[in-house]
Amino acid sequence: MEASAPPPSSSSGDRTLVEAALRILNAEDPWVKASLGEATAKQWFDGLISRPYDPSVNLPVPERPARLSNVKLVAPSLMPKLGKAGSLQSRQAILHSLAHTESWAIDLSWDIIARFGKEEAMPRSFFDDFVKVAQDEGRHFTLLSGRLQELGSFYGALPAHDGLWDSAIQTSNSLLARLAVEHCVHEARGLDVLPTTISRFRNGGDDATADLLETVVYPEEVTHCAAGVKWFKYLCQRTQQGSPQDKDVQEDKKLQAPDQLSAATNENSEANLDPVIDTFHAIVRTHFRGPLKPPFNEQARQAAGFGPEWYKPLAVKEFGLAE
Ligand SMILES: [Fe+2]
Ligand SMILES: [Fe+2]
Repeated sequence: MEASAPPPSSSSGDRTLVEAALRILNAEDPWVKASLGEATAKQWFDGLISRPYDPSVNLPVPERPARLSNVKLVAPSLMPKLGKAGSLQSRQAILHSLAHTESWAIDLSWDIIARFGKEEAMPRSFFDDFVKVAQDEGRHFTLLSGRLQELGSFYGALPAHDGLWDSAIQTSNSLLARLAVEHCVHEARGLDVLPTTISRFRNGGDDATADLLETVVYPEEVTHCAAGVKWFKYLCQRTQQGSPQDKDVQEDKKLQAPDQLSAATNENSEANLDPVIDTFHAIVRTHFRGPLKPPFNEQARQAAGFGPEWYKPLAVKEFGLAE
């Protein structure tokens, strides 16, 4: 019944942010995802889309977002070697891989909004943060795929793999797991490897790509990781204060200055964080296969709000034997 009159609240006709997120997830073309995402972010921040979701409506979220069929998918082990950016072919392969990752990052951002926002009764600033992440990821995709074209190739010219979405599916029942695995493991891994990638482009004589990665992508990825850490802490602390299953408690939490809660978890002492970090370790060990790979970019990770006590114990092969 809710499908009747489309809403005048925005030029796209989306009444809520979740409706807009679903429209983006159901768009095949990543350039369209990026431009719809940019428009939606503007409408959200300008107040043209005012509600994150309709509390009385449950909208189905696709298990897999729509994707272009012309991007050939292969198993991660069958991916061609990327090389070290010393040749044009290697630079194209690396840029293609980065653009593909960004295309999934767009979907991950809208998926977390659509899948968990209402279910977990998340506060408005959760939506603000992930709309901003989504907007960044769309820009990253557009810039990197544009640069790939300047280098004589295009997105879809090479095979790609969907490992990132496989882990999204594995975390589709738990916002804590999604935040931990996608934003505090995968995105943090991106922070670990990006400086080397930037140096390789620089050494290979491609300053334009190096500059793009260094001045746009890298600093923004730090903020994405920070969003993951911030909301992981928030959700843990909220759970400690009241059962997440208790809808009355959820409603209450939604209404009571949640930003104060998250700010408190961000700025508070380590003593408060011990149970949060323990939960993080347990969740990553359950939902992510294998140890985390050092070396870690400790400076960037610190800037994102998590110190070595979060991730170094997870780099130990024998789980349970934290250093
Ligand atoms: Fe990105
Ligand atoms: Fe990101």
